[in-house]
Amino acid sequence: MRTRPLKVALLGCGVVGSEVARIMTTHADDLAARIGAPVELAGVAVRRPSKVREGIDPALITTDATALVKRGDIDVVIEVIGGIEPARTLITTAFEHGASVVSANKALLAEDGAALHAAAEQHGRDLYYEAAVAGAIPLVRPLRESLAGDKVNRVLGIVNGTTNFILDKMDTSGAGYSEALDEATALGYAEADPTADVEGFDAAAKAAILAGIAFHTRVRIGDVHREGITEVTAADIASARRMGCTVKLLAICERAADGQSVTARVHPAMIPLSHPLASVREAYNAVFVEAEAAGQLMFYGPGAGGSPTASAVLGDLVAVCRNKLNEATGPGESAYTRLPVSPMGDVVTRYHISLDVADKPGVLAQVATVFAEKGVSIDTVRQQGRNPGSGDEVVIEQGGGGRRVGGEASLVVVTHRASDAALSATVEALRKLDTVRGVASIMRVEGE
Ligand code: NDP
Ligand code: HSE
Repeated sequence: MRTRPLKVALLGCGVVGSEVARIMTTHADDLAARIGAPVELAGVAVRRPSKVREGIDPALITTDATALVKRGDIDVVIEVIGGIEPARTLITTAFEHGASVVSANKALLAEDGAALHAAAEQHGRDLYYEAAVAGAIPLVRPLRESLAGDKVNRVLGIVNGTTNFILDKMDTSGAGYSEALDEATALGYAEADPTADVEGFDAAAKAAILAGIAFHTRVRIGDVHREGITEVTAADIASARRMGCTVKLLAICERAADGQSVTARVHPAMIPLSHPLASVREAYNAVFVEAEAAGQLMFYGPGAGGSPTASAVLGDLVAVCRNKLNEATGPGESAYTRLPVSPMGDVVTRYHISLDVADKPGVLAQVATVFAEKGVSIDTVRQQGRNPGSGDEVVIEQGGGGRRVGGEASLVVVTHRASDAALSATVEALRKLDTVRGVASIMRVEGE
């Protein structure tokens, strides 16, 4: 074993960075044995130098991250600051000064991954980022390496721990949205600005990274259709329950049937309780990968939090250090297919639409006619009277008739598979009907 240590600069020492430092210290001997050389923490860049950081030599702390990556003797830079700048400049500076980089920064990789990969290649360095997608779950390496000989057609799953935690709490314990978000933040799952989680930006970044690797193309966060969970109501969750479903924020990346394009989307969806994703609780993540030869693979585990994410960072650190000792680099970007990303209108799925309608004869027929005119086939309709004391609920399966009561009613329509463009046109036409007082919610139905 080489006795001269490999030097590591840690940029950021928050939820993830502090766990990386702890494991590097407590597992130093094992890491050295696995790598073939000791690894030494050479500096830790932070924003607030006076903050007490347990287990870290205060002499290593600096606020000058740029000087740290420019030192010239650093072998590996671990970037766990987050955000676009200064992370981007620090990473490219690290490559220029001879270091390889391990990053957990999905926001940056989904925004500017191609340029970062190009910089790594130009300087003959590694860029590894297992922790950027789904916390502890090995997913980037299986897609980049284990499945490199197969053809991946679909990646579908839960890739944001915070939103899964919130939806799970709302569903199972009746917790309020804000209360559940506060708990997820306190547990270290949420991003520095939790808007990134609840508005779906974090999951969209991960979907972009996964789609790029899976389909050997370039997908940026702006290419991903994104809807968060802020519009999901307790009524949606209750409605899902009535259908034998639950609500999850899903990331879905698909290769078109003709193989000529891809789609990537993030949105809340109803999935049947019998689907494996329905039992993914708290901040856990789970991702299905469908590949031509391999069939369906499922990856499951803790998707957020300091210690699980540090596990993925440390795995990358070992890989990058081994490469360094072998004077080699690992796989770089593989984006040779250059497949275009199709708009959301092309996506085909099922929908659950909740309408507030006048409860009088002929309304159901009017609504059904709009669906038919737009080419969207109805699977089921559920009508619930809103008259005081009526409590009437009628489920009408394809072509059945419903009992009507005076006043206003709630109509829940579940469709067969239709394109998003056709569904949007249907909703637009429904809004124009005098008898439709409002479209209370639209949610996609997945997982069948
Ligand atoms: P935190 O906000 O907990 O930590 C950020 C760290 O970066 C802090 O130590 C902060 O310093 C430091 N920092 C911020 N700005 C600067 C700067 N300009 N120069 C030097 N240091 C700076 O974030 P997390 O640890 O939660 O996340 C870090 C990264 O890991 C992000 O990219 C995130 O998306 C990703 N990630 C996070 C996961 C999680 O579960 N938390 C899971 C997977 C990925 P100070 O301590 O002084 O404030
Ligand atoms: N905020 C992210 C989440 C962290 O909740 O999934 C893990 O990437």
